Amino acid sequence: MLTLSIIKADTGGHVGHSAVHPAMLATASSRVSDAVDRGLLIDGTVAACGDDVSLIMTHERGADAEEVHSFAWDVFQSTTRVARQHGLYGAGQDLLSDAFSGNLRGMGPGYAELEFTERPSEPVICFLADKTEPGAWNLPLYKMFADPFNTPGLVIDSKMHDGFRFEVYDLHEDKHIWFDCPTDLYELLMYIGAPARYVIHQVESKSLAEVAAATSTQRLSLIAGKYVGKDDPVMIVRAQSGLPAVGEVLEPFAFPYTVAGAMRGSHHAPFMPVSQHQAHPSRFDGPPRVVALGFQVHEGRLGQPRDLFDDPSFDEARRQANVAMDYLRRHGPFEPHRLPLADLEYTTMTQLEARLADRWEPLPTADRQPVSAA
Ligand code: F6R
Ligand code: MG
Ligand code: MG
Repeated sequence: MLTLSIIKADTGGHVGHSAVHPAMLATASSRVSDAVDRGLLIDGTVAACGDDVSLIMTHERGADAEEVHSFAWDVFQSTTRVARQHGLYGAGQDLLSDAFSGNLRGMGPGYAELEFTERPSEPVICFLADKTEPGAWNLPLYKMFADPFNTPGLVIDSKMHDGFRFEVYDLHEDKHIWFDCPTDLYELLMYIGAPARYVIHQVESKSLAEVAAATSTQRLSLIAGKYVGKDDPVMIVRAQSGLPAVGEVLEPFAFPYTVAGAMRGSHHAPFMPVSQHQAHPSRFDGPPRVVALGFQVHEGRLGQPRDLFDDPSFDEARRQANVAMDYLRRHGPFEPHRLPLADLEYTTMTQLEARLADRWEPLPTADRQPVSAA
């Protein structure tokens, strides 16, 4: 059984929170090559989206493997040292703990891991995002695996016709549930339409009994109990031969839907699909970006990545994202551009409430809402 792990962290930005310094990527790449040479990993590569470094690794140690997680933790300690040497912004931002203990759960870095038996040909797409949250994958996963208007394979491929099962996490209450689609389609949508709380963790094919997709579901803000950075997510999707085709996997991103997480983790903005060389959010610390790296996994090796949004057929999505960004920006500090009060990652509300408590006065009796008898 092969495991594909993407483990990511923001350990310093160049400049501000916009990108990763080349020296950090060089350090991470050389550490990953060492790990391949000494047999910890079968293969590995390093990529970035915005200010986040992703280690994309194959191995046979399973999900949550201590040796793989502790290796990633060490790499992020090294990239943090490089960030400090160069005076980069927010060095070590996502490393919330001083010492590694067992696995990365609750320690800051995000990770998506998928265990599978390699098929004779194994196309896999790794999605990396910046300036958004794990629930950002809900809409495209729904479209890929449940919407025939996106994925004709659901209708005309006999291996897909039975549908897919979705595992959804409730990030507020540490619960999870499986939805069996198409039967549970409407129930699924009721939950995943609220992506700040309900997040698709994985998707399984019913006829192949295989995991088809996995996401990172950590929320940094909830882990730390205070704002410490964005919980920028990653996702792994397997494609073809009874799973959505590569084109069906990418198609949802042709619509630059709105996600939470731009500017101070506190604004909605359009999700822009970009090539790696455009994955440097700069306007209003955004718009949030998504990169798709395709791999043809063979004998456990990743091979050359293909930068799948480096394609003029996504130009129109990028143009529409800029138009939507202009539209949302004109709302300034008003919702729905600004997130609802409860979801803000930066807020002065607590201090304001304390300071203004004495200035709020009861309404005159005539203006009060009648209290219902019930
Ligand atoms: C970081 C992010 C940015 C920052 C903003 C303020 O990923 O989303 O929008 O929140 O640049 O950053 P600080 O508070 O570090 O000055
Ligand atoms: Mg940062
Ligand atoms: Mg980031």
